[in-house]
Amino acid sequence: MASIIELRELTKRYGDLTAVDDITLDIEEGAVFGFIGPNGAGKTTTMRILTTLLRPTSGEARVAGYSVMAAPRDVRRAIGFMPDFFGVYEDMKVWEYLDFFAACYDVPAAGRPGMIDDLLALVDLGHKRDAYVETLSRGMKQRLCLARTLAHDPQVLILDEPASGLDPRARIEMRELLRELQKMGKTIFFSSHILSEVADICTSIGIIENGRLVATGNVGDMMSRLRAHRSVVVRFVPSAGVDLAAVAAGLENEPGVLSAEVDAAMPSTLRLDFGDDDSELSALLARLVGHGLPVLTFSEERGDLEDVFLQVTQGAAD
Ligand SMILES: Nc1ncnc2c1ncn2[C@@H]1O[C@H](COP(=O)(O)OP(=O)(O)OP(=O)(O)O)[C@@H](O)[C@H]1O
Ligand SMILES: [Mg+2]
Repeated sequence: MASIIELRELTKRYGDLTAVDDITLDIEEGAVFGFIGPNGAGKTTTMRILTTLLRPTSGEARVAGYSVMAAPRDVRRAIGFMPDFFGVYEDMKVWEYLDFFAACYDVPAAGRPGMIDDLLALVDLGHKRDAYVETLSRGMKQRLCLARTLAHDPQVLILDEPASGLDPRARIEMRELLRELQKMGKTIFFSSHILSEVADICTSIGIIENGRLVATGNVGDMMSRLRAHRSVVVRFVPSAGVDLAAVAAGLENEPGVLSAEVDAAMPSTLRLDFGDDDSELSALLARLVGHGLPVLTFSEERGDLEDVFLQVTQGAAD
């Protein structure tokens, strides 16, 4: 499938600070791409470049085949952008707000009332059609802002932290809405700093840290990366007086063991970084027991996507 968003060696510097550092990335049409990173990682900066609001220092970004530098007007027609902070206008009703943005995008007046009703139904704000915008709750404002980004029926949605500041129910509703938009054929590029919350709706994710893209792929790829480094916790009978340091040193030479160390926070416990092979892991347990070591528990700590996040971002800092 064709790439609808392409970043090539994209870099943005603010003085000495490199906010976006040599990012190359392709996003396929129809993807839901989660752009994940901690505060200050460079997410908003990247999105502002993609939406033509900011010029890159070097490199190139293209959306729907148009260069953000050479053809910004075409890029703007192809995208709907929901910024991380947005103001709403006072003394404007919900339908007027959408009508205003539709007019800005040259949607013909005759088609606007029907379109506004459709958009309000989509974001579940039909009952607020005649309410003043400033009287909406935060979650409702967020959904209205999303509706606004759809007014010109763009191919690509760029949403900067669409779920931030929402309560758990509103987050779920926002997620459902993104799913709905994906079904409508939109490509969605959205940012978040909470990986586990977005993983189930993303077709692919990219993790950014200090301006650098430290990992990209689909969620399954991320999980298999995690599997290649699983954490195994071995606890011995505390009263048996096992020489943990000696056992850890011995374990480092065993097949499948990437590293072994004494867990300082837990009594009589070792923590192993183990590879992917299940039979090696089972053989290791058999050998420990065979050597007469008083194993009390031997368990794999289930990793989740937050661990991948920590692992890859830690890798970047090394
Ligand atoms: N206009 C600016 N002038 C100088 N530095 C800036 C400017 N805008 C952003 N930065 C810096 O660039 C870096 C990236 O900021 P950015 O807003 O892109 O991060 P972010 O990933 O969106 O973070 P958050 O999760 O907090 O929204 C930060 O170190 C920030 O301080
Ligand atoms: Mg931001």
